[in-house]
Amino acid sequence: MSTFQAPKGTYDLTPPRSAMFLAVREAISAPLRDSGYGYIETPGFENVELFARGVGESTDIVTKEMYTFTTKGGDQLALRPEGTASVLRAALEANLHKAGNLPVKLWYSGSYYRYERPQAGRYRHFSQVGAEAIGTEDPALDAELIILADQAYRSLGLRQFRILLNSLGDKECRPVYREALQTFLRDLDLDEETRRRIEINPLRVLDDKRADVQKQLTDAPKLRDYLCDACKAYHEEVRALLTAAGVAFEDDEKLVRGLDYYTRTTFEFVHDGLGSQSAVGGGGRYDGLSEMIGGPELPSVGWALGVDRTVLALEAEGVELDLPATTSVYAVPLGEEARRVLFGVVTELRRAGIAADFAFGGRGLKGAMKSANRSGARYTLVAGERDLAEGVVQLKDMESGEQSAVPLAEAAAELAKRLG
Ligand code: HAM
Repeated sequence: MSTFQAPKGTYDLTPPRSAMFLAVREAISAPLRDSGYGYIETPGFENVELFARGVGESTDIVTKEMYTFTTKGGDQLALRPEGTASVLRAALEANLHKAGNLPVKLWYSGSYYRYERPQAGRYRHFSQVGAEAIGTEDPALDAELIILADQAYRSLGLRQFRILLNSLGDKECRPVYREALQTFLRDLDLDEETRRRIEINPLRVLDDKRADVQKQLTDAPKLRDYLCDACKAYHEEVRALLTAAGVAFEDDEKLVRGLDYYTRTTFEFVHDGLGSQSAVGGGGRYDGLSEMIGGPELPSVGWALGVDRTVLALEAEGVELDLPATTSVYAVPLGEEARRVLFGVVTELRRAGIAADFAFGGRGLKGAMKSANRSGARYTLVAGERDLAEGVVQLKDMESGEQSAVPLAEAAAELAKRLG
């Protein structure tokens, strides 16, 4: 193993590709920030208990994928595998739900860790931007979140994504369905592990990707037929609001999701250019989670979009993000005196809010102009001894190639004017 190799299942974000990640985080969070969501940041690790209780003891995430460790002080911690349990824990700790302003709307952005088998689009360290709306049961809130995610993806230029929608019922109707499903599943020809799953988490069996399992599931009882009237009405309202907003979705009664806390609305954003790891984002309602982690009843809904997979989806669609050049002006000094003078101009430009960079290291004109080109700067400032003697700098427009001498004292003002 090379010393310079990132750990298995991880990768580094380096320029220029890293700029896409920043742009994706920005684009996903912008509609949230414009819709009353406040920024929240929580620690990268939590007590194991939180995820065991919140995400669910029977989920792959908790049983197989969590990075857990014991601190020197004896605390059992886990690197966060997801954000919802942490955000709800933090909101409860800060009593945000008691400020008389429900729902508490929060957004976040950060790193998450799952010990999964790495493959394209599936990593052990990945990043999400997420949103949680805590403390309110209102189909418009579920619809708002789905609409905002759709808006975020569209603003990035993504087109080949689909929204899968389902309802998982609530604490009234789901247990009835669960039992009916278990009775059906117990009669099938299944391996030991799947049999165990029937007893702990039968809905997950529906999610089994194997053809021989799927074949046996054709006549499985359908959750749709078991939804109580309240859940049915709620779901119809979410669907109607999405339709009214012009957001297309597909009903997918197989959509179960890999976390235990969901009730009623669940949804996933899938992208058709990504192969098997096609979910670019997912979420849903989690009306019971607060009580599961020891809090009061706080019906809530949220989602998290995967930044890594969103970038892969953009690349799969060949979307070129309109990333503005980071540098507007590049200064190329020729000689000691010019170095001092142009460094001063660059500092002045930066203080005036103009993005500027400088050819460091006393390089020759040719190499420095190459760097100027690469920087994407619109203008280059070049000055040598003769220019300084005349009190000017050469200002080159990198787009037209035109060059003109500008009085040194006016260079910054002239650039500010030209760059608008
Ligand atoms: P999730 O579906 O587990 O949901 O993850 C959301 C998104 O994170 C996925 O759709 C995917 O894009 C990305 N993701 C997950 N695991 C990986 C991985 N190993 N490598 C790369 N990307 C990954 C949640 O995490 C819930 N907390 C969402 C939520 C918020 N539900 C309610 N509120």
